[in-house]
Amino acid sequence: MEKIMYSEKVMDHFSNPRNVGEIENASGVGTVGNAKCGDIMRIYLDIDGDGIINDCKFKTFGCGAAVATSSMATELVKGKSVEDALQVTNKAVMEALDGLPPVKVHCSLLAEEAIHAALWDYAEKNGLKIEGLEKPKADIHEDEEEEQEEY
Ligand code: FES
Repeated sequence: MEKIMYSEKVMDHFSNPRNVGEIENASGVGTVGNAKCGDIMRIYLDIDGDGIINDCKFKTFGCGAAVATSSMATELVKGKSVEDALQVTNKAVMEALDGLPPVKVHCSLLAEEAIHAALWDYAEKNGLKIEGLEKPKADIHEDEEEEQEEY
């Protein structure tokens, strides 16, 4: 089997993850899981009256790549408007981390979906509609079927 190599940035965010924890009375909370590997991710957002994400924290029961991508994703959404936070896709997070091994790409989807779920929660609580945001899935595993066939 080929050895899996991680970039230095991935290793850094894995060994020293940013923004781990919870936010009490968060503006939005999103939890997603991947039924296949059993990993779970929860993201908390603190959003001010102008729709700016002041703080973002995460908790995970997930693999190292899920930890590293969530750590980077929380760093990227902090200070952004909810609309701009939607642009923080798993691809953007992977780029910021200098890439992920192909077998670990699906792990980065947990962070993206958890952020979307938290934004959805925030929008619902406040009776808002966020342009471009679709109802999140609780389990990201269904979409992965195709991607994982080769394993
Ligand atoms: Fe499950 Fe990485 S193996 S998220």
